[in-house]
Parts: sequence; C-alpha cells; structure tokens
Amino acid sequence: MSLSGKKILIAVSGGIAAYKIHFLIRDFVKKNAEVQVIMTPDAENFVTKLSLATLSKKPVYSDFYGDNGTWNSHVELGLWADVMVVAPCTANTLAKMVYGMCDNLVIATYMSAKCPVFIAPAMDLDMYAHPSTQKNIELAESFGHTIIPAENGELASGLVGQGRMAEPETIANAVEKFFNKNDRKTLQDKVVLITAGPTYESIDPVRFIGNHSSGKMGFSLAEEASKRGAKVILILGPSVQNIHDPNVTVHRVVSAKEMLAKVFEFYEHADIAIASAAVADYAPKEVATEKIKKNDENLTIELVKNPDILKTMGEQKEHQFLVGFALETQNEEENAIGKLHRKNLDMIILNSLRDEGAGFKNDTNKIKIFTKTEKKEFNLKSKAEVATDILNFVEDQLLK
Ligand code: C5P
Repeated sequence: MSLSGKKILIAVSGGIAAYKIHFLIRDFVKKNAEVQVIMTPDAENFVTKLSLATLSKKPVYSDFYGDNGTWNSHVELGLWADVMVVAPCTANTLAKMVYGMCDNLVIATYMSAKCPVFIAPAMDLDMYAHPSTQKNIELAESFGHTIIPAENGELASGLVGQGRMAEPETIANAVEKFFNKNDRKTLQDKVVLITAGPTYESIDPVRFIGNHSSGKMGFSLAEEASKRGAKVILILGPSVQNIHDPNVTVHRVVSAKEMLAKVFEFYEHADIAIASAAVADYAPKEVATEKIKKNDENLTIELVKNPDILKTMGEQKEHQFLVGFALETQNEEENAIGKLHRKNLDMIILNSLRDEGAGFKNDTNKIKIFTKTEKKEFNLKSKAEVATDILNFVEDQLLK
C-alpha cells in the first residue's frame, strides 16, 4: 500500500526532537504523500521554516497572519488533511490540545481537523511521567487519537528515561499502518442504507414532539461505510450534522412517516440496512393548522402510534442484512434480544443510557452487539471507532 496522494499535516511544537522531523517529512515526500507543515511559534527556536518548507515543498505556517495581510486559514488546513501528526508534541501542546486552549495556529488547526490524529509526545522523563501528562495522554486517547509513545533513552537534559520522541520510522509506520487498514475497500459497490437522527412530529405550525438524538452515530456509520467503498444512502431526520462525501447521498426528512416513505424508495436496492434513527413512537393525531393558544390550564393532545420503520423493513426483508439499535434503560439485554427477534433483524446494537458517555448527544458510545447466536461487548469508544467495530462485525457476519 502506498502513501501516494495522501495529505499529511505535520504539526511541530517546540522541543529539541523537532530536528528529527526533517527525516519524517523526507520519508513521506519520497513516498509521494503531500505534506503540509505547521509549527508553534516556539518551534521556530528549534528548526527553521526554510528547512521544513524545502523538504515538504510547501510554505510552512506558524501564525494566523501571513505576509502582506494574508490569512492562514486553520479551517482549510484542518479540513484538507487525511491525517494530522503532532510531532514532537510537547507537554504544553498536548495540554492545549486536550483542553482546547486555542492560542496558536497549531491548536486552531487541530480543533478544525476532522481526520485521525497521531501524537508523538517528546519531553523530559519527569514531565512525561507526571500525572498531568499521563492524564492528558489518556484524554487524547479517549478522543480517539493515536498516541505514539515516547521511547526510553538518553534525553537532551542528560538524564536517561522515557521521554524521547519515537523515531521518525516508528511514526511513519504508525501512519502507514493506519492507511493500509483504512484503505481496504471491503464494501466496494455495496449499497448501505442508514436511518439517523430524530424525527419531529408536528403539533401545530411552530411546535413538535422530538427527542435529543444528534444523528452522530448514523453519520459515523455513513463515513465508515463510505471509506470502505460503499454507496451510502443516509435518511436523516432533523439534525445539524452535515457530511460532504461523494459516496454518501443524504435525504433529509422530518417525520417518521416521511422517513418510512424515503426508506422504502431505496430499501430493495440495499445490501445492508442500519436503523440508527431515534424515531418518535407517537405523533399527534391531528396537526393544528394555527398555533395553539394557551387558554386553558391543561392541554390534551391525542397521540397515535407511528409506523415502526425497522419492523416494516424486517417484514419485507429479502436479501438485506438488517441491523437495528436498542437504547434501553432496564432489562437491557432481554429487551434488545426481544427486538432482534420481533423485528426480524440480523443484528442489534444495544447502548444503555446507564453507561456514562453512551447514547444520544455524546461523541462516544459503549455498545453490545447481539445476533441470534452471538454476543459481543465493546469498551467506551469514539463514535467513529464504534462505527468501525459495527461494520467489522457486519462484514464478519456476511462472510459466514
Ligand atoms: O422499538 P424501539 O424503538 O426501541 O427500536 C429501536 C430500533 O427500531 C432502532 O433501530 C430504531 O431506529 C428503530 N425504529 C424504527 N421506527 C420506529 C421506532 C424504532 O425504525 N418507529
């Protein structure tokens, strides 16, 4: 697998190990990757922009403001990258990343980047071992970032211990390994239908019944399926999330009935269908044409059951591999397994509201997967990683 055409953003912070970055850049460029270097203002005390720019063949930025009143857009840089590598990552830069202390171009770019992030810490042994650094490493990992641990050896201070930045070769291997894994087109030409987000059921022209679903889990699944070569149809209830991916077609809907209709426009072409939407179970029987006035002490709205989209998909299942979600608060496993059978699913993903960090609005999730014969439990992870676990599991099932 080659790095050819990969867009690698290298962020250099101010540590003595910065001199080793030249070797990393040269290695990436030799493998035909596109390399963009940015640096913290302090890093300029250790290496020059000229040497980094010469090797990367691109101007190097350390400030929001360029020459002649130009603006170095951290947003553009962040969105451009396929991966971001922060190396060397000082204790200070690590802490700023973890706490969002956005006072320089590197942190602003990091916070704008949507790509995987690799962090190669480098500092003196006591700084590395300090509980604050160790906690920050843990936090960075919980964001889904990859830490390339510091190595043991002689340090610039003359002391010996863990704190040396990993060798450029080790950093390059971690990045290449990521692309190797990531570029497998295991769902090439498969059609993956995903429902996501909440539904809104109108009460009158200004009010609705809805829920806190963000749609993030569905988006992560769409991104992951697209990476694997699938053609993704994302049927999305009202959600502020957005996706710009040529392999993902987004169809926005509002109510459960609209979602049902849209799903069945595409269902017969789907190879895999995943229902991650939090569909409202009930909708007002009648929608008032004018805004309801607050005249009485009590207001009664009659609700009627919405269609169960997933159950209908189960009833009409032919070749599709059908996956549902269950968000439970009690008798969790029993309820999830009940739904698996009742809705004629091939697989169900349980997330419990009891687990901290799992469920609706969070960027993380903790899941258990059930099929009719298997059960697998996963740790708390970023939703992107959870999407990877889910699709790995689906692929394993399809191969059986
Ligand atoms: O029965 P329950 O709502 O708990 O089932 C959850 C699963 O069913 C989720 O996968 C959800 O997307 C789907 N569902 C649906 N239509 C509904 C209710 C739930 O597709 N009306």
